[in-house]
Amino acid sequence: MKVGVFDSGIGGLTVVKSLLEHKLFEEIIYYGDTARVPYGVKDKNTIVRYSLEAFEFFKNFDIDIFIIACNTVSAYAINELKEVANIPIIGVIEPGVLACEKKIKDKDANILVLGTKATITSKKYETNLNNLGYKNLTSIPTGLFVPIVEEGIFEGEILDSTMRHYFKGLKDVDAVILGCTHFPLIAQKISSYLNDCDTIHSGEAIVGYLKDEHKYDKSFKNTKVTFFASENPESLKNTAKDWLGDLLND
Ligand code: DGL
Repeated sequence: MKVGVFDSGIGGLTVVKSLLEHKLFEEIIYYGDTARVPYGVKDKNTIVRYSLEAFEFFKNFDIDIFIIACNTVSAYAINELKEVANIPIIGVIEPGVLACEKKIKDKDANILVLGTKATITSKKYETNLNNLGYKNLTSIPTGLFVPIVEEGIFEGEILDSTMRHYFKGLKDVDAVILGCTHFPLIAQKISSYLNDCDTIHSGEAIVGYLKDEHKYDKSFKNTKVTFFASENPESLKNTAKDWLGDLLND
């Protein structure tokens, strides 16, 4: 089983991490559009165009399934990708919503949705969560976390002051949806800032979704992972080594 994993940049490596931890695939082809990141400040037409171009890239690899490891692309381009694809296309938003439903039983819980400006503007999480009966939703575009994580800043004053800026006046958050694949790297900091609230993570959500909704039960001893990027692939490979460490074979 060969999976193509796509993100606007390095954030989707957090999804790769979950896939590797659960040994779900024999081979992973990762492509980050590092030349054009961030997508989260762009409009729908641009996000759709870039995503279709990225999908073209994967045509060289004969993949069995395509995972959109980017909330922004999942919010805007999943239907367009499904239209051109003849393999399963899985985004992160539906899995994230279902993971929330599994974890947070109380429909009156206060749920905070974080994401890029584009993801939050799409209201995809809110609409889906509302449809499941969740009533108390707050959404905040927190795009500054993206360059902070890309800088390798996972703690300290810059992150703390950014959290103070975004989370001022928030209280009683029960769960936070990390609606951007960069955010799992600062999940613990966000959770402890918000009184140890639960977190919902796109990578873990995808794993649960594949197992529960797609009845995917494969397990491979070793997974071959190949990384590609539209710009500076060496830098992406170095980040992958840092973030994924021993999960990578070589
Ligand atoms: N990783 C992307 C996401 O999950 C955000 C980064 C970007 O703005 O391109 O939405």
